[in-house]
Amino acid sequence: MNFKEAAGVQAAGVVTSGMKVGLGTGSTVYYTILELGRRMKEEGLSITGVPTSDATEKLALELGIPLAELSELEPLDVTIDGADEVSGSLDLIKGGGAAHFREKMVAAVSKRLVIVADESKAVEKLGAFTVPVEIAAYGWKSTARRVEALGCKAVCRERNGQPVVTDNGNYVLDCDFGLITDPGTLDRKLKALLGVLETGFFVGMADEVYIAGPEGVRVLRRGAGQ
Ligand code: A5P
Repeated sequence: MNFKEAAGVQAAGVVTSGMKVGLGTGSTVYYTILELGRRMKEEGLSITGVPTSDATEKLALELGIPLAELSELEPLDVTIDGADEVSGSLDLIKGGGAAHFREKMVAAVSKRLVIVADESKAVEKLGAFTVPVEIAAYGWKSTARRVEALGCKAVCRERNGQPVVTDNGNYVLDCDFGLITDPGTLDRKLKALLGVLETGFFVGMADEVYIAGPEGVRVLRRGAGQ
């Protein structure tokens, strides 16, 4: 079992029958979703999910996990999701898969946010990974200039020479601010800019982080001196 799989599968243990579950996006929570599908089939687990991306929706439907709209189900009992960076105080950078807008909307109406990651995602301070910022496609270069005025290099994410378009029809700027001492303040400054729709900062949102490495899976809990 690889580290992502170990974290993903173990975190699925927080889910019990009857729960309304936010289903994150990415290659780690993929294993959580597979495990939930297995438990539904083999152990009679019964849940309803809210997917955070088109890719996760497709996977959940393939596994036979019943899905509903966010607004029909909120508040959710728990959301399980991956992260690109996890700081010592359990703040996150997300959005490496360009799904952070929906991920944040789903996490925000969840009673509990559980993060799954391998050890490579654990950092003292956020910022080695660039901060994904979802912006309106219209006038994106103007928005990028406003973002850069906050003190970063902002690159429009591309695939095959074309801007990556999110599930919401928007673009993503990958912003290099260097190491970030106060992600909450930077998040608020970015969100205040015209054209910016959402950032990849998840500040004060994660309740638990399942981190897998060679020694097994560690569970870090908010407020437990992490
Ligand atoms: C999706 O946009 C991201 O927020 C992912 O949750 C994050 O990039 C983690 O992905 P992996 O588990 O694939 O590393």
